[in-house]
Parts: sequence; C-alpha cells; structure tokens
Amino acid sequence: MEIISKEMEKFERTLIESTESGVPFIENAARYVLEAGGKRIRPALVILSSRLLGYRGKRSLWYATVIELIHTATLLHDDVLDNAKVRRGRPSVNSLFGNEPSVLLGDFFYSKAVEIMGRDGDSELIRIVSRATTEIAKGEILEIIRTGDLGLKEEEYFEIIGKKTAALFSAACEIGAVLAKKGKKERSKLKEFGEKIGFAFQLTDDALDYLSTDLKLGKKVGTDLKEKKVTLPLIHTLKKASKKEREIIGEIFKKDRIGSRDFLKVKDLIERKGGFEYTYKVAKRFVEEGVKSMEGIPKSPYRESLLRLALSIIERKN
Ligand code: IPE
Ligand code: IPE
Ligand code: MG
Ligand code: MG
Repeated sequence: MEIISKEMEKFERTLIESTESGVPFIENAARYVLEAGGKRIRPALVILSSRLLGYRGKRSLWYATVIELIHTATLLHDDVLDNAKVRRGRPSVNSLFGNEPSVLLGDFFYSKAVEIMGRDGDSELIRIVSRATTEIAKGEILEIIRTGDLGLKEEEYFEIIGKKTAALFSAACEIGAVLAKKGKKERSKLKEFGEKIGFAFQLTDDALDYLSTDLKLGKKVGTDLKEKKVTLPLIHTLKKASKKEREIIGEIFKKDRIGSRDFLKVKDLIERKGGFEYTYKVAKRFVEEGVKSMEGIPKSPYRESLLRLALSIIERKN
C-alpha cells in the first residue's frame, strides 16, 4: 500500500479528528482503540478503489473514515458479544471500562459516520453504507442466535459471514466507483471484488482463531470455540467425523466452560479431518474469484495494489 501512503496518513488524521466531541472519556477511549493500530484494510480499499477509477479528491478520505468508524463500532459491539478481553494487542474497551461504555462508544462511532455522510450529502453513498450496516447487524444477530448450535450448515455459515464481514468490504470498494462517478459495469466489478475478498478475509480469520497465537493476532486465540461459535473449520470436521468423534465435540459443547485442553483436542481433530486445509482452500477460491472480477479494469499501479492486497488476505498472520 506504498502507493497510497500519503493518503493513509491523511486518513489517520481525519479519523482521529472525527472523534473530537468535547467529552474527554470519548476522546480518550477513541484514541485508545484507534491508535492501537488495526490493519486499516477497509479504508485502504476505499482509497485504492477510488484512485483506480480516477478519483483524486478528498471525499475518499471522508468515506475511508466512515468505513473505519463503522468497522470499529462493530468491533466494540462484537467484543461485548464475544466476551473478548483483548483487541488489537490491548485490553478491549469492554474489559477495561465495562460493556456499557463499549456499546455506547460503538454507537458514538456509528453516529459520527452517519454525520460525516450527512454532511457530504450523497444519497447514493448513504444508501450503500446503510445497507451494509444493516447487513452487519443481521449477520451478527444470525450468528448470536446460532451460538452453540453444532447443526449449523455450511450455507448458513456463509450467509452469516457474507453479512457480518463481506458486506462492508463490498461497500468499501463500491464507494470508490461511485466517488469516481463510474458506470454500472465498473461499479459492479468493484462491489464483487470487495465481497469476494471479504469472504476470504473472514474465512482466514476463522482459521487463525485456531491456528495463530495471541501475540501475532492481537486478540485471544480460541475465542470462537470458547464462545461456542461454529465456524467452517469445525463444520467441515463435523461432516467428516465419525459418530464417536461427533459425540466428543458434542460433549465439549455441553460444558459451561471450554478449557484449553478441550481447545487442543478440537484443534487436533480439525487438523486431522482437514478442516483448516479446506477453509483455506475455500478462502483461496474466493480470492481467485475476486481477482477475476477485476478483469476488464485497465491495468494500473492501483489495480496491482488491489490485487496484491487480495492475495495477501489468505497469507495474513495478524
Ligand atoms: C476484525 O477485522 C473483524 C473481522 C471481520 C474478522 P480486522 O482484522 O480487519 O481488524 P483490525 O481493524 O485489523 O483490528
Ligand atoms: C467479525 O467476526 C465480527 C464483525 C464483523 C464485527 P469475529 O468475531 O470473528 O471478529 P474477531 O475475531 O472478534 O475480530
Ligand atoms: Mg469477535
Ligand atoms: Mg474472529
């Protein structure tokens, strides 16, 4: 992302400025989460997509901010739902200040995003972003009501991740095309590109939740199993497992507290049944489809950068 490093610096300033509120708690807590880093993939997608299609103005910075604020809001809410203690290598806002401030700070971020869009006043962009946030809410709700349900089907899992993650990636890229005032064809290519890599991103995240380390990931490994979230590595394993093995997993899911020995047991079974391999295979297919949807977009350094970003998604370690 060398190519947009200047814009990304400006984006960081716009992002922090957007949380100025006159309320010291908000400003401190906002800095605390925002300055912890984060990969900034979604804002980079907004900027790269708009540049790719010829837009050179400032609005891409505002929309990059809108998307990152919404993303951060979902994390603040998600950490409450997942009971997550660590985020971006730091104690999560909910573990530090409690669930209520975390939810309310998320609401503040979300409202700020709406305010920025309102100021810009582009109904088409408001439509794109609000559709994406509705999808995220639906995805998170679908996920929470299926917590602990080992009967979750692959299609249902894909519906959940399509909504909770791919929708925002897709919106980020589509915004770029709208800012550049491009026609339907480019717009749908970018939208599809974002959606596909969004799926790949969540699939990778769900594999890393078993395979990575706390240090690399900046969050607690094993949270999905601990919180009884059924993701593709496990769904595939349940499909391939013997009756006996399925019963073992069933017993673990009945426990009030899933400990680290259970985690290792499940991880080992997933490994043996090829659950991680399968998840990465599917993620790779999504990346390839994403790359394919960029066919017909003229070659440029921005296109190269977007394609590189797509490929890096399944290689990520954090
Ligand atoms: C975390 O997103 C939420 C998922 C969709 C898996 P990121 O991994 O992009 O989070 P940050 O912004 O880099 O912390
Ligand atoms: C992504 O799912 C959640 C959102 C889209 C908000 P995860 O629950 O897997 O995200 P992490 O692993 O906590 O970052
Ligand atoms: Mg989570
Ligand atoms: Mg995760």
